[in-house]
Amino acid sequence: MSSYISCKEKLAASPRTWLITGVAGFIGSNLLETLLKLNQRVVGLDNFATGHRYNLDEVQASVSKEQWQAFSFIEGDICDPDTCRRACTDVDYVLHQAALGSVPRSLEDPITTNRANIDGFLNMLVAARDAGVKSFTYAASSSTYGDHPGLPKVEDTIGKPLSPYAVTKYVNELYADVFSRCYGFHSIGLRYFNIFGKRQDPAGAYAAVIPKWTAAMIAGDAVYINGDGETSRDFCFIENAVQANLLAAVAEDGVKNQVYNVAVGGRTTLNELFLYLAEALKTNGIHYDQKPVYRDFRAGDVRHSQADIEKAAKLLGYGPAFTIREGILEAMPWYVGKKG
Ligand SMILES: NC(=O)c1ccc[n+]([C@@H]2O[C@H](COP(=O)([O-])OP(=O)(O)OC[C@H]3O[C@@H](n4cnc5c(N)ncnc54)[C@H](O)[C@@H]3O)[C@@H](O)[C@H]2O)c1
Repeated sequence: MSSYISCKEKLAASPRTWLITGVAGFIGSNLLETLLKLNQRVVGLDNFATGHRYNLDEVQASVSKEQWQAFSFIEGDICDPDTCRRACTDVDYVLHQAALGSVPRSLEDPITTNRANIDGFLNMLVAARDAGVKSFTYAASSSTYGDHPGLPKVEDTIGKPLSPYAVTKYVNELYADVFSRCYGFHSIGLRYFNIFGKRQDPAGAYAAVIPKWTAAMIAGDAVYINGDGETSRDFCFIENAVQANLLAAVAEDGVKNQVYNVAVGGRTTLNELFLYLAEALKTNGIHYDQKPVYRDFRAGDVRHSQADIEKAAKLLGYGPAFTIREGILEAMPWYVGKKG
């Protein structure tokens, strides 16, 4: 039996209390859906900076009335230590997702990104430590590999950050490590590599590439590729990231105070991605026959990214269940359903 299946069976047999920060966002709301379906008790914290109430409504519609009653929501900011303290009360497992994502956003407004991603992170660490939670799993980022050219990316070898966002995510790792050394509070950082799937926001200037292009293609608008299209990423379907979070949360102490790559271990260029999206749209009855429009490379972007996922496989029992193409096919009906 896979580690993930047995992890879910154990949780279902013995429900726990979880705190998900950033619960109204893309990854947070998918974690919420999975945990409620496993009959867990969940506290959610979000200030709707980039998340949406309709993400929570959608989760509510996907679970039973009893499962939804096991969810309580705190509207609040992780920059407020009291809010973090309140949210951590009587919690077993923390999944800390709240942060301001996006490299371009951090280039435009590094101070706001720093506040949420570093001050907020530290508040959550302190609150979780003081509450004596069983585990603290946080959203780290592949951006921490920065300018290191090596591929695939292995956890121990990083370069210099290429954006303020990358600095904040690296500082999270440093704080987590110091909390382990100084206070014996051991956490796990999950370095996500371009996660995608339902409820990833297609709107706004800082939207990620898959939802942004998909929305443009559905609307019949132009798709813009930054650079020559040969920039590559290890795109990872949300279900794989959910799996990594649950495995990390229940992991033994011996594999904590570590960071783990969360990806598929593949590499897809933007040109290939464009074709996969067009292909998946076609299977959903939407034909996009425009060619992409190429424009300048974007500041702060890493050229290539691909993860080595051996460490997560070996120590957490992580095994991605979806390739990029399978994930796109899963996610596409949701985007098509959003049309209009
Ligand atoms: N999506 C990816 O590919 C990816 C890659 C690497 C890392 N990450 C990290 O994963 C986490 C979740 O990302 P996502 O893609 O779901 O983004 P998202 O923007 O959909 O979700 C983030 C959530 O955090 C909330 N939030 C932001 N600031 C807050 C604050 N000060 N107080 C309370 N809530 C706050 C937002 O309202 C939002 O609901 C983030 O930490 C992000 O940096 C994501």
